[in-house]
Amino acid sequence: MNVSSGLAAELLNRDYHADANATPASDTLLINEQSRLRESKGERIVKFGFGQSPFPVYGPAVEALAEHAASKAYLPVQGLPALREQVAAFHRELDGTDWKAERVLIGPGSKLLLFALIKALPAAEILIPAPAWVSYAPQARLAGQTAVKLAASFETRWQITPEQLEAHCREGGSRPRLLILNAPGNPTGLSPEADSQQALAEVARRHGVIVLADEIYGPLDHDGSHRAFALDYPEGTVTTSGLSKWCGAGGWRLGVMHVPEALGNEIFSRLLGIASETWSSVASPVQEAACVAYRVTPELTEYLDRQRAWLGLIGHWCATRLQAAGIRTHLPDGGFYLFPDFEAHREGLARRGITTSAELTARLLAETGVALLPGSAFGCDPAQLTVRLAYVDFDGETLLAHQPQRHDDPLALPALSKVRDGIQAIVEWLP
Ligand SMILES: Cc1ncc(COP(=O)(O)O)c(C=O)c1O
Repeated sequence: MNVSSGLAAELLNRDYHADANATPASDTLLINEQSRLRESKGERIVKFGFGQSPFPVYGPAVEALAEHAASKAYLPVQGLPALREQVAAFHRELDGTDWKAERVLIGPGSKLLLFALIKALPAAEILIPAPAWVSYAPQARLAGQTAVKLAASFETRWQITPEQLEAHCREGGSRPRLLILNAPGNPTGLSPEADSQQALAEVARRHGVIVLADEIYGPLDHDGSHRAFALDYPEGTVTTSGLSKWCGAGGWRLGVMHVPEALGNEIFSRLLGIASETWSSVASPVQEAACVAYRVTPELTEYLDRQRAWLGLIGHWCATRLQAAGIRTHLPDGGFYLFPDFEAHREGLARRGITTSAELTARLLAETGVALLPGSAFGCDPAQLTVRLAYVDFDGETLLAHQPQRHDDPLALPALSKVRDGIQAIVEWLP
C-alpha cells in the first residue's frame, strides 16, 4: 500500500460514520448506473427509475444558447438582471404569485439553491415529509441541520396534514423551523387539495414556520392548475424552480429561487454570501438562453401544453393499469411520477421472499428488466411496499411533434412501447 492510499483509508475509517459530510451517492443515480450496466450487456431495460425529462429542450432556448456560446464574462452573483426580471414575470403570469426580480436568485440548479437556504439558516429543524425527494435529508445533514421526518400515508395522498404540523409545532423547541414541500411531488406526482394547502399554510403562519416550496414540476401540472404555496402564505414561502423539468434542460444547471421581502434582508444576504463563495455565478450562455426560455410566448405555451397533455395521458394510463391489477395508485396531478403501493400483494410477495420495497425493486429489475426505485429511498419505512415509477422511458421528441388525440389508444404508439411493456411486465410478474 502506498502512503497516500494508506492515508486515504485511515481518513475514511476514522471519519465515515461520524461525519455528516460523508454522504453516499444518491439512490436515484445508483439505479441508473445499474440499469446502464445491464443494458450494456444487451438486456432490454425499461427505465422507470431515473426522473429525467424525455422531452427535448425548448427550441428557441437552444438557439439562444448557441448564439451566446462565446459569452464568457462572469455574471453578477445574484444572476443577470434581465433574467431575474423575466423569471419573476414568468411566475407572476403562470402562478399569479408576487415574485419580485430583486428577490430572485439564480443558481446552478435548484438543488444547490435548496442547499444554500438550508445552510443559511441558523441552527434549525428541517421538517421533511416522507415520502419526499431523496436529497432533502442528506442536504440537511450536510448543512449541519437537524432533519425531522413527518410521515404521510396513502390515505392522505402522501401529504402531511395541518394536524400533523400543528402537533409537531406544539411539542415545543425554540429552533426556527423550515418545512419542505414539493408539489407536484417527486416521488408521488401529487399536489395537495386547495383547502388542505390553505389549512397547512395557516398552521405554518401561526407557528412562524418558513416553507420551502419546491415547485420545480409546477409548470408540468397536467391540467395547468398548479397552486403555488406562496399564494396561501406569501410572507413565509421561499419558492424554488428551474429549467430542469418543464424545459427539459436538467444538464444546463439553471435553477431559480424567490425569497419574499417579508423574510428580511439578513437571509437574502446570507444566500448571496454562500453563492459568491461557492458557485460565483451560473454559466453566462446558459443565463442568456434562460432569458429566452422564460419569455412567455404562444410557442412556449404550446410547448408546455403538449408536454402536460402527454404526461397526463401516460400517467393516467399507467395508474389505471396498475389499479386494475390491485396495486393501489393515485392518479397523478403533475410531473412524471407515480407512487404505487403493492400492499395488497404482501402475502404473495412474502412467499417469494420479498418483504421490503428494496427487495421488491431488486427482484423486479432482475426478473422483468423494469427499473424502479424503492419507497425506502424516499424516507418511507423499508417494510412499506411502495415504489417510485417515473413514466419517462419514451421518445419525447416524437411525441412533442403533435398534441395527443383523446380518442386514440395512445400507448399503441411505437414511441410509447417501452412504457406499455414495462407496465405490462410488472402486472404479469405479480403473484
Ligand atoms: C423534487 C426535486 N427538486 C429538485 C430537483 C433538482 O433539480 P435541479 O436540476 O434544478 O437541481 C429535482 C431533480 O430531480 C427534483 O426532483
